[in-house]
Amino acid sequence: MTSNNTEKPWGGRFSAPTDKFVEIFTESVSYDQRLAHYDIMGSIAHVRMLAKVSVISEKESKQIIQGLEKIENDISSGQFQWLTELEDVHMNIETALVEHIGDVGKKLHTGRSRNDQVATDIRLYLREEIDQICEKLNEALNALIKLAKEQYDTIMPGFTHMQSAQPVTFGHHIMAWAEMLLRDRSRLQDCRKRLNLLPLGAAALAGTTYPIDREYVAEQLGFDGVTQNSLDSVSDRDFAIEFSASASLIMMHLSRFSEELILWISQANGFIDMGDAWCTGSSIMPQKKNPDIPELVRGKTGRVYGDLMSLLTLMKGQPLAYNRDNQEDKESLFDAIDTVKMCLIAYAGLIPTITVNREAMYQAAAEGFATATDLADYLVVNGLAFRDAHEIVGKTVQFAIQHEKTLSELTLPELQQFSDAIKEDVFSVLELEGSVAARNHIGGTAPEQVKLAIERLNKLVNE
Ligand code: ARG
Repeated sequence: MTSNNTEKPWGGRFSAPTDKFVEIFTESVSYDQRLAHYDIMGSIAHVRMLAKVSVISEKESKQIIQGLEKIENDISSGQFQWLTELEDVHMNIETALVEHIGDVGKKLHTGRSRNDQVATDIRLYLREEIDQICEKLNEALNALIKLAKEQYDTIMPGFTHMQSAQPVTFGHHIMAWAEMLLRDRSRLQDCRKRLNLLPLGAAALAGTTYPIDREYVAEQLGFDGVTQNSLDSVSDRDFAIEFSASASLIMMHLSRFSEELILWISQANGFIDMGDAWCTGSSIMPQKKNPDIPELVRGKTGRVYGDLMSLLTLMKGQPLAYNRDNQEDKESLFDAIDTVKMCLIAYAGLIPTITVNREAMYQAAAEGFATATDLADYLVVNGLAFRDAHEIVGKTVQFAIQHEKTLSELTLPELQQFSDAIKEDVFSVLELEGSVAARNHIGGTAPEQVKLAIERLNKLVNE
C-alpha cells in the first residue's frame, strides 16, 4: 500500500513512501484541477516578475512560460494526465513542467509557496465566477423587467400572512423580486472589490527573502493591489465566506420566488402557467404538469446554506497561518458557485415562459375584500377617525360575508347602514382599479409608478 515518494516535489525529507490511503485522503487534485487555468495564469505572472527582478534570467522565464502554455493546451484538450500521487493541481502542473522543459522548470517555485499560490488561484477563479454570476443575474433581471412591463397594470391580491390584504399590480410584485436581485448583484460586486487583492508574495507565511515585486504581479493579474500581511494572506478565506453568504441570499430570494410560483401555478390559485418545456410530468398521473424547476431551486437553497456553514465552521478554529484544513474550502465554494449559477440560468429561462391568467388574479382580489382599507381611508377623508372607520368597515365586511357579496357588490343603502358618511362616490374606491391607482407615490403599486420603477431599475441593470 505504498507508492514511490521520490516523485513528490516535497519528498526529500522522507525516507518512507506515502501510504496509499494517505495519498487518497490528502489529495485535492480530483476537484482543484478546476483551478488549473488560474494556477497557470498566476505562475506566468510570477516568473515574469522573477525575471524582472533578476532572480531568474529572461531566457529561463520564457522557457517556463512556454512550458506552462503547453500544459494549458494539454489540459484544455483533455490530454493532461492528472495524478493523485501528485496531490493537488499545483504539484501536478509543476511536475509536468519539469517533465516538459527539464531542470529549468524547477525554478518556477522560487519565492513562493503553495500556500500563497492556492490563495491566489482561488481569488482569480472566484473573481471570474462572480463576473459570470453577475451576468446571469442581469439575464434574470431583464426577464423580470420584461414580465413586469407586460403586467404593469394587472391586478392581483397582495398578501400579508398569506391572506388577501390589498390589491396590487402584478408588475409591482414582479418588481419586488427585481429589487432583491439587484441588491444581490451589488453584494457580489462589493465582495469582488474586497477579494481583488494579490496574496502572492506571502510565500509559506512570512514572506520571502527574494527581492520580489508584488505590485508588478498584481498588475499583470488585474488585481487592484496587494494584501498587506503575509500571515493573513495565506490564511484568509473571508472572501469565500462572503461570496457564499451572498450566494445564500440569492438562493433565499430565488427560493421565495419559487414558493410563490408553485402556489400561483397550483389549481387552487391558477394565477399563472409556465411553458411546457419548463415543467415536467408525473410517471403515474397523466394529467400532471409539475413546477419541478422552482421546486428544485427551493430545494437546492439548503445546499448553498450548507456550503456557507461549512466554510464558516472550517475557519473558526484555525490558528494563523495556513493549515491544511483550508484545502476543504474548495468543494463548498465550488458547490455554491455551481448551484447558484444553475439556478439563475434556470430562472432566466423559466421567467419568459410565464403566462398570466389575469381573470383569476382579478377575481381573487375582488373576492378577498382587498379594498377594505380603501373604504376605511374613504371614511377618514369624510371626517371619521381611522379607528372608528376600521370598526365600521369590519362590520361591513362581516355583513358582506353573510350575504356572499364582494364590497363593490353591496348596494349604497346596504353600505349606508354602517355609516351615513358613505355617499355614491364610494364605489370608485371599492373598485380594484381605483384602489391600486390611488397608491401613486414612489414605491407604491399604481401602474403609473410601476412603469417608473421599471425605467429606474432598467437603467441600473443595463447602463
Ligand atoms: N492543496 C492545498 C490546498 O488546497 C494547497 C496548499 C498546500 N500547502 C501545504 N503546505 N500543504 O490548500
